[in-house]
Amino acid sequence: MELTYYGQSCFSVTIKGKKILFDPFITPNELAKDIDVSSIEADYILVSHGHQDHVYDLVDIAKRTGAKVVTNFEIMSWLGDQGIENVHPMNHGGKWDFEFGTVKYVNAIHSSMLPDGSNGGNPGGFVIMSDEGNFYFAGDTALTVDMQLIPRIAKLDFALLPIGDNFTMGVDDAIVAADFIDCQKIMGVHYDTFGFIEIDHEEAKRKFKEAGLELHLLDIGETRDL
Ligand code: NI
Ligand code: MN
Repeated sequence: MELTYYGQSCFSVTIKGKKILFDPFITPNELAKDIDVSSIEADYILVSHGHQDHVYDLVDIAKRTGAKVVTNFEIMSWLGDQGIENVHPMNHGGKWDFEFGTVKYVNAIHSSMLPDGSNGGNPGGFVIMSDEGNFYFAGDTALTVDMQLIPRIAKLDFALLPIGDNFTMGVDDAIVAADFIDCQKIMGVHYDTFGFIEIDHEEAKRKFKEAGLELHLLDIGETRDL
C-alpha cells in the first residue's frame, strides 16, 4: 500500500490500484503550497467530518475526478446540494465493502459543522481493511475509550492519529490511543498547520520511542510504501 501525505489530515492511499483520498484540505494550507491540487487523482474520497480544514478542496476534487465520496449522511446531503451525486452515505458502527476493501465508520469525539454553517452530522473515523493491509484514520478526535474496540474490528498495520493538541488529542494522549488500538506504527496528522497546533517534532518522536512506538511525521508531498 502506498501513502502520500498532503498536510493537515489530508492523505491518499493506493489499494488495488484505487486511489483513496482522505479529508481534502490543501489550497489554504501555507505548508502545502507546493502541492498542485489539480493533479491529485482520486477514485474515492473519504471525509471524516465537516470542518473546513477537512473539506476545503472536497467539492472541486470530487467534481473534477468524479470520485465516490464516502462520508456521513449529513455531509452527503450537503454535497447533493452542490451537484455531487456520487456519494456513499455511512453512519457510526456501519461497514461496507468497496472494490478496494472494507470501510467501517467509527466514533470520534469532536464536532462537525460545514463551512457554510450547514449540519455536518457527527464526526467519525475510518477503519480500512484490505488485502494489502489494515489501518485506522481517527479523524479529529479526543482520546476515547471507544478506541479500545478497534482491535476487535481489525489487526492494524498502521494508524493515522491527530497529535496537534488544542482541537484534538495531543502527543501524550495519542500514545495512549496507540495502546488502545494495539498499533505500534503511527503516522501523525493534524499538526503544525496553524499556531494552535504547532508541535516539537523531536520531542514528539522521543515520547513515542520511549513508549515503544514509532511516530512517523511525513513531509508534505512525501510518498511511503507501507
Ligand atoms: Ni475538526
Ligand atoms: Mn480539524
